[in-house]
Amino acid sequence: MRSFLFVPGDSEKKQTKAETSGADALILDLEDSVALSAKETARRMAYDYITAHGSGPKLVVRMNALDTPFWEEDLAAIVPAQPFAIMVPKTISGACLQKVAAKLDHLEKENGIEAGAIKLCNVATETAMSLFNMDSYKDATPRLFAMTWGAEDLAADLGAQSNKDESGVYTGPYQMARTLCLLGAVAAEVMPVDSICKEFRDEAALRAETRAALRDGFTAKMAIHPAQVPVINEVFTPTEEDLAHARAIVQAFEEAGDVGVVNLDGVMIDMPHLKQARQLIAKAEAARP
Ligand code: COA
Ligand code: MG
Repeated sequence: MRSFLFVPGDSEKKQTKAETSGADALILDLEDSVALSAKETARRMAYDYITAHGSGPKLVVRMNALDTPFWEEDLAAIVPAQPFAIMVPKTISGACLQKVAAKLDHLEKENGIEAGAIKLCNVATETAMSLFNMDSYKDATPRLFAMTWGAEDLAADLGAQSNKDESGVYTGPYQMARTLCLLGAVAAEVMPVDSICKEFRDEAALRAETRAALRDGFTAKMAIHPAQVPVINEVFTPTEEDLAHARAIVQAFEEAGDVGVVNLDGVMIDMPHLKQARQLIAKAEAARP
C-alpha cells in the first residue's frame, strides 16, 4: 500500500470520484472533515459505500476521537459493513488502541465477523502528550497495521501560529512528531505512513515531501485530493534503476561468498546495504499487481 486518500464521509461526489483515483486505500472520514450536524449521515454513507464495494482499494474508516461522544456510535454503525480497518485519530498512547480493540472484539462477535478481522491504524502525534508515548504502540494490539502523524491538530494543541516556516518547511515540533511516528511505527513493526500535504495544487511540494518520506523509511503517504495520488504512487514504486541497483548488491554478495563487505563500483557495501536491497526487492515484488 502506497497511497491512502482521505474522502469526507458525507460527500457522495467525492466518494464516486475516489473510485477512479488509483489510491491503494481510501480513508472514509467521519472526523474532522465532517460537520457535527452530518455525523449520522456520514456513518450511513460510509456503511453503504463499504457494503457496495467489495473489491478495489482497501477501505479504512476514520472514526471520531475517544474524547468525543461519537466514537462508540461510529463503530457500532461501521463494523457490520466490515471495513478493512478503522483509523483512530488523536491517540495518546497504545492504551487508546486497546480501548478501541476491546470494543471491536465485542462488535465483531455480535455481528458474526471473524475475531480480529478489522485492523487498526492511528494518527499518533495530534497532541503534545502523545509525543511522549510513542513506544507504547509496540505490542498494544495485533490489529495495528500502520501508524501515521499529523501536524494540523498538533499545531492547534500547541497554540502555534503555524507549523511551517516562511519557506514552507515544517518547524522543529512537527519534524520531531514526524520522526517519532516513523520510529514508533518501525519499533511496533507496522507501516509508517507519512502525513498529508495540504497544499494540494502544489505538485512540486508534494513530490519533494513524498521523496523525503521514502528516503527516511516511510512506506506510504496520505492524500487529501485525487490529483495527489499518482505522484505518491509513482514515488513509492521502485524504479527499474533502483531495482537493478538492489539486484546488483545482492548479486555482488552472492558472488563474493561468505563475506561481510564488498566493493561495488568503488562504493563500500556491507550488511545494512544488503538488508536495504533485499527490502526494496521484496517491496517491488509485493507491489506487483
Ligand atoms: N476525494 C475524492 N474526490 C475529491 C477529493 C477527495 N479527497 N477532493 C476533491 N475531489 C474531487 C472534487 O469533488 C472535484 O470533483 P468533480 O471533478 O466531480 O467536480 C474534483 O475532485 C476536483 O476537486 P477541486 O475542485 O480541485 O477541489 P475541491 O475544491 O472540490 O476540494 C478540498 C478541495 C480540500 C475541499 C477536497 O480536496 C477535500 O475535501 N479533501 C479531503 C479533506 C479531508 O478529508 N480532510 C480530512 C483529513 S486531513
Ligand atoms: Mg484532524
